[in-house]
Amino acid sequence: MKFCMLRVFLFVSTMIWAQEVPTDFLSAEFHKERRQEVRKLMSSNSVLVFFANAERNRANDVDYVYHQDPNFYYLTGYREPNAVLLIFSEPQKDAQGNEFDELIYVQERNAKEEQWTGKRLGVEGVVDKLGFKMAYNGSEFKKVPVDFTSFDKVSFFDFENDYRDKQGDADLFDLIQTFKVKANYPSDYNPQKQQLYSMIQATEIENSANVAQTVGRYLDYYEDLRNEEFLYEFVNAPNNEKRLEIKQKVSLELEANNLDSSMISEIMSTLRETKTAEEMKLLKKAIEISSVGQIEVMKAMHPNMSETEIQGVHEYVYKKYGAEYEGYPSIVGGGNNGCILHYIENNKAKVGNDLVLMDLGAEYHGYTADVTRTIPANGKFTAEQKAIYDIVYEAQEAGIKASVVGAPFQAPGKAAAEVVANGLLRLGIIKEAKEARTYFPHGTSHYLGLDVHDQGTYAPFKSNTVITVEPGIYIPEGSNCDKKWWGIAVRIEDDILITDDGPVNLSAMAPRTTEAIETMMKQLSPLDDFVLPKLD
Ligand code: GLY
Ligand code: MN
Ligand code: MN
Repeated sequence: MKFCMLRVFLFVSTMIWAQEVPTDFLSAEFHKERRQEVRKLMSSNSVLVFFANAERNRANDVDYVYHQDPNFYYLTGYREPNAVLLIFSEPQKDAQGNEFDELIYVQERNAKEEQWTGKRLGVEGVVDKLGFKMAYNGSEFKKVPVDFTSFDKVSFFDFENDYRDKQGDADLFDLIQTFKVKANYPSDYNPQKQQLYSMIQATEIENSANVAQTVGRYLDYYEDLRNEEFLYEFVNAPNNEKRLEIKQKVSLELEANNLDSSMISEIMSTLRETKTAEEMKLLKKAIEISSVGQIEVMKAMHPNMSETEIQGVHEYVYKKYGAEYEGYPSIVGGGNNGCILHYIENNKAKVGNDLVLMDLGAEYHGYTADVTRTIPANGKFTAEQKAIYDIVYEAQEAGIKASVVGAPFQAPGKAAAEVVANGLLRLGIIKEAKEARTYFPHGTSHYLGLDVHDQGTYAPFKSNTVITVEPGIYIPEGSNCDKKWWGIAVRIEDDILITDDGPVNLSAMAPRTTEAIETMMKQLSPLDDFVLPKLD
């Protein structure tokens, strides 16, 4: 009997243990299917090369918490550093006659290392759990069974040169070095130049004046590109004939090697712009968690709270639901601090009677939310705060309404900006519509997914795309308007799923109107009774 009880205990505790580790990650089938979709979009005789994210040093022998590169995660599910993935457009053969259309090189298992930094999947795990057929230790990348120079295109995201050579011969630095040698990577390779060359090469000559304008904008931004003769000439060409001549020269130069950064970014933007059902489950969860965070803070908020403490309440709620991280540094700005668009100090000791702008997003299994609410710390909007808030609300409503399949990406921004300008004119804060930009200086929408500013094509909206709609009005101290408006900053940001049946607000659970916020703020919070001892 005792023995049986022990067995029951062991069985039950194993069950509990099994449940303690999250299992709702993207499936191996998802990643495999995505790699197949990548292959469909590749040009013939090409290879895409993806590297894992670099590890980053925080202080002395402590690194920042590791975060996988979203493209690498999307295509593999692998969450460790020091890895490289190759995807081929057509099957290849190694010396033993094995056929493959993808290869992955990962961190080797190492008992000593794992005692310090945790379990590694290793080659076996990558085969068993992630479903790869051909997986190798990173040290074997030197013997990769392909000749990179034999492809028409070797496409990769360029290296930012911000990784370190660590111990061993198979860290990210070594993998990249190996690739550079094998692919004949020129020491003066400039990926931005290559990308603009590809753009020029692809353009119809009738549209070349528009492309010249785009190239011109890049030249305004990237100083070193201005010295590139062909780019400069293309931007300043007087007519199509001259642009055609440069297009031909650029094409010849592009053919000098097979390296490319355009195809990989086009493919990943195209795929990641629209979300599959499996992705939506995780993204919705991240957004719901973040919305609950906003609700709990509305209940707990009082004027004596610090910005840091407010941030902590949000983040505690995220962790309580099993979200691993914040998708971006949390923004909690009381009063004038809300006017700093990406304010992350969050160190004001008391928010007082000001509005508090809270832009936060939980990251759940890689997918991040991005939700902003602006609330009065004392639970009641003043007349001025409400006047500004209601304009932003109306602008957001207009932006959400414009987020429909087929509309240009800029549609929500245009709709929101018009409402903001009219509202500011009505209140006498500006005299001409064009001044509105001073108080609403940022875009209204971006894609949302694995990155907070996710990848996408910026083409007209497609079904199953998630974007933010986030207008704001920021009136810093000293602005050229009546003093009564100074220090008021409002942003309202929601995460919108675009569907064939219209926009769906995925963060609607978090109160958004002034009335709903004030009502929510009257509710009791479990934190009302959470009193900690005073420290000196
Ligand atoms: N949280 C950054 C943004 O709203 O885009
Ligand atoms: Mn945003
Ligand atoms: Mn945001």
